[in-house]
Amino acid sequence: MSQSITLEELQKLWNFTATEDFIRRFNLIDLKFEDLTTEEHLEAISEIERTLAKDLVVSGSHRKESWENGWGQNLIEFSDSKDLASIAPKYFGKYPLIRWKQQFIKPKSALMESGLLSLLIQSLVEKYSSEMKNLYEFGCGTGNNLVKIREFNNNLELYGLDWVESSQKIINLIAKETKDNKLHSAKFDYFNPDEALSIKDDSIVLTVASLEQTGTEFTKFIEYLLYQKPKIVIHIEPMWEPLDKNNNLDSLSIKYFNKRNYLNGLYLHIEKLSKEGRLEIDQYFRSFVGSFFVDGYSVVVWKPNP
Ligand SMILES: C[S@@+](CC[C@H](N)C(=O)[O-])C[C@H]1O[C@@H](n2cnc3c(N)ncnc32)[C@H](O)[C@@H]1O
Repeated sequence: MSQSITLEELQKLWNFTATEDFIRRFNLIDLKFEDLTTEEHLEAISEIERTLAKDLVVSGSHRKESWENGWGQNLIEFSDSKDLASIAPKYFGKYPLIRWKQQFIKPKSALMESGLLSLLIQSLVEKYSSEMKNLYEFGCGTGNNLVKIREFNNNLELYGLDWVESSQKIINLIAKETKDNKLHSAKFDYFNPDEALSIKDDSIVLTVASLEQTGTEFTKFIEYLLYQKPKIVIHIEPMWEPLDKNNNLDSLSIKYFNKRNYLNGLYLHIEKLSKEGRLEIDQYFRSFVGSFFVDGYSVVVWKPNP
């Protein structure tokens, strides 16, 4: 039987009040889905277990070239088509199942996971951007999230940062093609933060599934942020801390994080810094949205202390 995610559910789970702009975008996204049969559910679990038993590509500094090439492919497609749909990362919609509220579901649209993620980003950016002038997305890839943010915010100067050059090339081309003179790009490496890259006053910092790629090597970046003192920092990243180890799907997600060397310990680190009085945590929750393999969009929002 077909069901659909409701606005009320999202507001309750993500702790926000929908704006008119949010409702406008919510109504454009197909959030219809079907539940799995018991057989389909068991087959999905087996597929994940079979995958976990194999050697998988792990994240880290050796992966720079693959990211360069991956976004380079999107760059070629966008240069040819000038169609913003071609900047969508190719990992979305790869599997017919995604995760919602600790269950697998069969979305009607292949764009459901990316649509939900863009709504989660909107709920957070709208909540924190009223007094802000700039938004910096670190590890921004093709600038896909920045383009979505522009759909509901015309005021913010948007900065997309990433360690690979194909990211800067694609963002510069988007800025030219969409005549967006408030969309900028720069090079930045989480493993070697460039202190010379200063964050302007009244800024939001955002990371989405990118600090993910650093495993346990995220602390230099957090120190960089504590020094730069943006007004607010929003991470939407895979975190094992808010997941439930006693839940089978969550536990497979945590195993997958470990196997791929995804982000490990960000929340505990942020919590420790908060106890030391270096920052304040504004909110922390799991979004209950995930891909086939992981529940990877948990949220922590914090402010550096003066
Ligand atoms: C899964 S993609 C997410 C991209 C984008 N945030 C999004 O949501 O569409 C991970 C991104 O992290 C970037 N990345 C990986 N390691 C990095 C590093 N050391 N410094 C900066 N960016 C990095 C990759 O180049 C890639 O763009």
